[in-house]
Amino acid sequence: MKQVPLQHFLNTQDWSRDQLDAVLAQAAEFKRQPFGAPGKPRALEGKSIALVFFNSSLRTRTSFEIGAFQMGGHAVVLQPGKDAWPIEFDLGTVMDGETEEHIAEVARVLSRYVDLIGVRAFPKFVDWSADREDRVLKGFAKYSSVPVINMETITHPCQELAHILALQEHFGTTDLRGKKYVLTWTYHPKPLNTAVANSALTIATRMGMDVTLLCPTPEYVLDARYMAWAAQNVQESGGSLQVSHDIESAYAGADIVYAKSWGALPYFGNWAPEKPIRDTNKHFIVDEAKMALTNDGVFSHCLPLRRNVKATDGVMDSPRCIAIDEAENRLHVQKAVMATLAGQRR
Ligand code: CP
Repeated sequence: MKQVPLQHFLNTQDWSRDQLDAVLAQAAEFKRQPFGAPGKPRALEGKSIALVFFNSSLRTRTSFEIGAFQMGGHAVVLQPGKDAWPIEFDLGTVMDGETEEHIAEVARVLSRYVDLIGVRAFPKFVDWSADREDRVLKGFAKYSSVPVINMETITHPCQELAHILALQEHFGTTDLRGKKYVLTWTYHPKPLNTAVANSALTIATRMGMDVTLLCPTPEYVLDARYMAWAAQNVQESGGSLQVSHDIESAYAGADIVYAKSWGALPYFGNWAPEKPIRDTNKHFIVDEAKMALTNDGVFSHCLPLRRNVKATDGVMDSPRCIAIDEAENRLHVQKAVMATLAGQRR
């Protein structure tokens, strides 16, 4: 008999719009009833999830652990190289270096213990052509016999859902078509991951919004894969996509301003020449004057955020800032994703 492939949550682009809408609706229900409907079995009763963190986290770790608990499940946190063995991902490697076990064993063994595996693995920031292959996440998905959830690698799909739920709540509708959405690059002293920017572009276009990617120079345009996803999405959703380097026209009339800092891809692995470009663009900070150009727009950010570097105190403390709502929604959307995926086993 032919095996049914496992459904993972690696990217929202892999899921149909109906599936995403169903998860968002279930997340809203979890927000109303955190422990599920009275008298009904909880979605993760007797089940467990391994949360594999190769990088730091506050929100992701806390919200997944609490989410599993609220649904009657159990979460185990593992940090390879810290409290778990360092993992090898290349096939054919003579493992006489630092790595102690291979992903082929790690994912298979974890699959015998748990019902879901979450993975956080940022790029190594040396070679984008290697990082863009998302080998760690794909390695888990290849060898796991339970569903794998992306907890942020080169995209951040859980953040996407939390962001959209916060916007739906703010605007009082699940239909975000026609909203003017600005994804703005902001300064940060270090070149950061493009994951949240890739994700924001992907989901905003998927939802049919009129999206402007605002960044200082063409070098900050995102990877071709995500620009192509966004272009495909606007074809299907009826939204639009433009790239702008002009702050005033981008902010003018915006309904939503979403900020993120990221490193310019052409400088990956050789960041020194990028620093002067980055340093001359500190004025991309989201401040009250820029927000005053919007259509009484809302501001959000995935967090963590360096105040008065990426956005001012005034913007962060404004009632138009929905970043805390978005952070809360991580809990609800991840519960919906876990509840949707749990129970599959190959
Ligand atoms: N936004 C987000 O993923 O936060 P953490 O890095 O704290 O998990």
